[in-house]
Amino acid sequence: MVRGRGCFQIRQMRTIVKISPAPLPAQDLYKLLTGIVVPRPIAWVTSRSDKGVVNLAPFSCFTFVSSKPPMIGINVGRRLGERKDTAVNIERAKEFVVNIGDETMIEDIHRTGIAHPPHVSEVEVLGLEVAECDYVKVPRLAATPISLECRLHQSLSFGETGSQFIVGEVVLFHIRDGLSQNCKIDTAKLRPVCRIGGPNYASLGEIVSMQHVGDVRTGPG
Ligand SMILES: Cc1cc2nc3c(=O)[nH]c(=O)nc-3n(C[C@H](O)[C@H](O)[C@H](O)COP(=O)(O)O)c2cc1C
Repeated sequence: MVRGRGCFQIRQMRTIVKISPAPLPAQDLYKLLTGIVVPRPIAWVTSRSDKGVVNLAPFSCFTFVSSKPPMIGINVGRRLGERKDTAVNIERAKEFVVNIGDETMIEDIHRTGIAHPPHVSEVEVLGLEVAECDYVKVPRLAATPISLECRLHQSLSFGETGSQFIVGEVVLFHIRDGLSQNCKIDTAKLRPVCRIGGPNYASLGEIVSMQHVGDVRTGPG
């Protein structure tokens, strides 16, 4: 029994499974991590090859790392030890676009996770419309509510599998009219796609609003 706030609570005994990562293969650790770090947003990344082929692929290992200058990061793993087209293109051209799809686009997002050779454009395979960007030569997806024009800031390699954490500085935000006010995005209107473990997705559930606390104005970075 433990003393809570002015009352006694019964502390329930829970069985905990402890997992030591060292003996586990990368595949199992990947499963664990992608089931634990949920829900994840999806960066739907357009990049351009040296032959001018527009590549499109989803990356749910995605976050922002700095607010001023704005920087985002995606983690690109390897396929059978080889770098994925997105990583190759970004490191060569030093620019890319992160498009943010909404829940009506889940099927297309999922389909662009299929591996195609570098000369095949996923944008053409799916018949998706693209639009020119202002600062980078890579096009953005015309239909997505948000696109971020990015310049490569840094690419770091992590772990035994050679995952690359690619950080890009956002040089221009494209935001669909009516989706933001005073730089505040209306998340309910955005209807973002959430990735959970395996080939599973979720849409936004109930939004619970709380009072502001602490240093919410500056945040990280
Ligand atoms: C929703 C979704 C999220 C994904 N997230 C990642 C990720 O964070 N990192 C990664 O390396 N691959 C991820 N993948 C797999 C890549 O999208 C896939 O390997 C793709 O073929 C890479 O394309 P590319 O070779 O054209 O770059 C994801 C796939 C899906 C469907």
